[in-house]
Amino acid sequence: MTRSTLFTLITAFILFSTHIHTISALFDGPPVVLIPGDGGCQLQATLNRTATLHPYICQKTSGLFTLWLNLDEFVPYYFDCFIDNMKLVYDPATRTSRDSEGVHVYIPGFGNTSTVEWLDPSKSSFGSYYTHLVDALVAVGYERNVNIRGAPYDFRKAPNEGGSYFWQLQHLVEETYQKNGHEPVVLVSHSLGCLYALYFLNQQPTSWKNRFIRAWVPISGPYAGTTKVMRVVTSGDNLNEYVISALTARNAQRSYPSSVFLFPNTDYWSPEEIIITTPKANYTTRNYTQLFKDLNYTIGLDLLQDTQGLVKDIKAPDVPVFPVYGVEVPTEANYTYPGNSFPDTQPTISMGLGDGTVNLRSLRAYRKWRNEQYSPVREYEVKGPTGEHSAILAEKSVFRFIINEVLFPFIKLNSTTSKKRSKLSPRKSPKLT
Ligand SMILES: *[C@@H]1O[C@H](CO)[C@@H](O)[C@H](O)[C@H]1NC(C)=O
Ligand SMILES: *[C@@H]1O[C@H](CO)[C@@H](O)[C@H](O)[C@H]1NC(C)=O
Ligand SMILES: *[C@@H]1O[C@H](CO)[C@@H](O)[C@H](O)[C@H]1NC(C)=O
Ligand SMILES: *[C@@H]1O[C@H](CO)[C@@H](O)[C@H](O)[C@H]1NC(C)=O
Ligand SMILES: *[C@@H]1O[C@H](CO)[C@@H](O)[C@H](O)[C@H]1NC(C)=O
Ligand SMILES: *[C@@H]1O[C@H](CO)[C@@H](O)[C@H](O)[C@H]1NC(C)=O
Ligand SMILES: *[C@@H]1O[C@H](CO)[C@@H](O)[C@H](O)[C@H]1NC(C)=O
Repeated sequence: MTRSTLFTLITAFILFSTHIHTISALFDGPPVVLIPGDGGCQLQATLNRTATLHPYICQKTSGLFTLWLNLDEFVPYYFDCFIDNMKLVYDPATRTSRDSEGVHVYIPGFGNTSTVEWLDPSKSSFGSYYTHLVDALVAVGYERNVNIRGAPYDFRKAPNEGGSYFWQLQHLVEETYQKNGHEPVVLVSHSLGCLYALYFLNQQPTSWKNRFIRAWVPISGPYAGTTKVMRVVTSGDNLNEYVISALTARNAQRSYPSSVFLFPNTDYWSPEEIIITTPKANYTTRNYTQLFKDLNYTIGLDLLQDTQGLVKDIKAPDVPVFPVYGVEVPTEANYTYPGNSFPDTQPTISMGLGDGTVNLRSLRAYRKWRNEQYSPVREYEVKGPTGEHSAILAEKSVFRFIINEVLFPFIKLNSTTSKKRSKLSPRKSPKLT
């Protein structure tokens, strides 16, 4: 591009830009790649089932349809079909899991933001996910699918089965870097996505990270797992929809490698802490094998072997990290099953600290990275109910933190300091208020 065309472009942009955004053509915010959490992207499926649970209700047996999230399925009977289609089947020979017979699940929209912004393609507000963050970035000059990209994956599985995903993610990061003036990328992840991101970063060579990754923003990261999944696997979780059955949901939840992958990391719970109390036994984080035996959850033993080593050390990612999480929402800590209620009835739950889903000690397990890497580790803790595990994705102070501290960190400095710093990294952007 010649100097004069560039000048014309900039002039044109400045002339018209007052009507579009408040930002000039000099925008050079680093590109962003969004990695979703458990349940944080759409799943589509095709069915060709020979046998269904309820032949008259599960009639949808062909064609591509949205499996997750489709609120029409969250009613009795339909929910049974939904769970049956969402289930995975473990193959002990290959140590991998696959869709049920006659079901083929697709992860639509890799690279695009739309399937991680909205879980429900009809964009019902119930299914809004990364859309509030994306809107906030667009308001300061970002553009969907140009310098904000989405990296969805099959959240039912654990990173040990993520081979092709990590390959795709690496290429997405490199492509986004190349298409945005060789600007290193900021990774943003939520929940389970933080463990996927950590696993990915721990596999990449330092030279690759130095070149392609500017920073990582893990939001609500369960670095050391969460006690909640022990209840989910034991008794099922009805996703707070009282019309649906936890025991039905449990069939699918027990089939997911990601459920067992999220079991509490033994380095963060002492051998004395009892998580599940029944009249017959006390289970601590040292008793997973016994728990699975008592539940007759045989594939759980395989899944434990396959997934427990993946991020056990919570090794520092060796990139600048900006953890974001809530700290003041009551969170399940341990469970008591009276009488004969174990395991098919929901237990009495004792609440502790955390974000409502993940225990505080797990959310803060990243703190050891301060002593393990030279790159900065700077957190933002959200106080109060808006820090809740998923609600945090709509919290405006989080967007301010990401925009002001991560994407445009130099704009805040005074003119004298900013002149010195601007040689290192010139960034220009309005501040979000
Ligand atoms: C559906 O499955 C049957 C046998 O299970 C097979 O013959 C048929 O070709 C399949 N149809 C499609 C569209 O895949
Ligand atoms: C992203 O998805 C939207 C909605 O499905 C679609 O309209 C758009 O063309 C996609 N963009 C890209 C770059 O794939
Ligand atoms: C479980 O632990 C409690 C408290 O330590 C103890 O009183 C109880 O006897 C234990 N129950 C079993 C079955 O071991
Ligand atoms: C749990 O593990 C501890 C330590 O290994 C052991 O002493 C205890 O008997 C186990 N409890 C059960 C219920 O298996
Ligand atoms: C596990 O299987 C055994 C033997 O079939 C049975 O006696 C027991 O009740 C089962 N336990 C549970 C929790 O389903
Ligand atoms: C259960 O969790 C609560 C809240 O953190 C704690 O006070 C209590 O001691 C725990 N109970 C057991 C048996 O560990
Ligand atoms: C800017 O400089 C003024 C005066 O030296 C000082 O009071 C203020 O704290 C500085 N602000 C920042 C963001 O450093």
